[in-house]
Amino acid sequence: MSTPLTVALLGCGTVGGAVLRLLGEQADDLAARIGRPVEVAGVAVRRPDRHPEVPPHLLTTDAHGLVTRDDVDLVVEVIGGIEPVRSLLLAAFEAGKSVVSANKALLAEDGSALHAAAAKAGVDLYYEAAVAGAIPMLRPLRESLAGDQLRRVVGIVNGTTNYILSRMAETGHGFTEALAEATELGYAEADPTADVDGFDAAAKAAILASLAFHTEVTAADVHREGISAITATDVARAAEIGCTVKLLAICERVVNGGGDSVAVRVHPAMIPTTHPLAAVGGAFNAVFVEAEAAGQLMFYGQGAGGDATASAVLGDLVAVARNRVAGVAGPGVTTYAGLPARPIAETPTRYHVGLDVADRPGVLATVAQEFARHGVSIATVRQDGHGDAATLVIVTHSAPDAALSATVDALRDMPAVRGVTSVLRVEGLS
Ligand code: HSE
Repeated sequence: MSTPLTVALLGCGTVGGAVLRLLGEQADDLAARIGRPVEVAGVAVRRPDRHPEVPPHLLTTDAHGLVTRDDVDLVVEVIGGIEPVRSLLLAAFEAGKSVVSANKALLAEDGSALHAAAAKAGVDLYYEAAVAGAIPMLRPLRESLAGDQLRRVVGIVNGTTNYILSRMAETGHGFTEALAEATELGYAEADPTADVDGFDAAAKAAILASLAFHTEVTAADVHREGISAITATDVARAAEIGCTVKLLAICERVVNGGGDSVAVRVHPAMIPTTHPLAAVGGAFNAVFVEAEAAGQLMFYGQGAGGDATASAVLGDLVAVARNRVAGVAGPGVTTYAGLPARPIAETPTRYHVGLDVADRPGVLATVAQEFARHGVSIATVRQDGHGDAATLVIVTHSAPDAALSATVDALRDMPAVRGVTSVLRVEGLS
């Protein structure tokens, strides 16, 4: 019990600072849960003068020297980004250290190589905080659901965009006004690109899909669309059909005769207000899982924030520390299924299309014909208004995404169509 386990902390921003503080505040409980006390060996930062909260003797700018120090047992990485972190973590594995990381971009780009390096060294790599902050989601996929077959994982995994879309629904405002409000309140960063254009969610989707389907999926395999083109009209149209607009990360196993594949996509979509994900408002995250035996599962909570994310980091730290005390490594990650990535063009989706049309005999028929010509079956049609101000709202059945987008392109060129006013995918309708 007496010899402490020592931790190298890489990075000391919002999450790192919370990890450091909680390690101190909860030292006795953590020691009791692990079986040995945990001590911080050092904190690597770029600018030591900016960290008055850290005891000066712990601060260093030499991250490589810290992670390879003989007296370090575990490395906690909360720097983010690809390099120099990848090199630091590979050096840590080679030196026999287990790693806890919150780095979604690195895991989504190079997770397989990192897992291989950890396995070769007989150490652990855990990264619960990389996806959906505080929500225990990755270890349930890695461990609790390891005996099941997963069909789909659908998540709201970006709090910034969920806040913006929630405010658009509540206020009727457009994207620009809602983003300005999110920025003012600190929900959106000064440069919101990673969030609003879906990069953050795509990295998380790649990690979720890899674990769910035992297949290597990288961010480059993920079809990505953000929310900056979502209009107040889209949000109003969604409400008219009992739906709400969410940015979804959708990971699914597509089963067909020619062999299964994995389709992973991030895009805004209308979902019914009765769907469990529709109730996830503000900056919260949630992940909905469908498995063969378990059925439907939902995980909900805070996707960001210093203490919330630090909770996930510390949970991993306890896990890897317990393994270290027991002299074992925890369960690794398998990619034995090796399923191919299915391109978005071939992925079955459903569309909601709003059209401004002339209200004349035969217009509906010619519009319907365009859907038929592309092999797309229509589920519902509604006409609002008449004369020069008629609107058709069409919801399709499922069809390959390429057929749906080709239909929309053709509709834009039809003389009878004055304008395509809203195009959004629809998910979760029976
Ligand atoms: N920027 C992310 C979000 C949190 O808005 O949810 C960190 O992944």
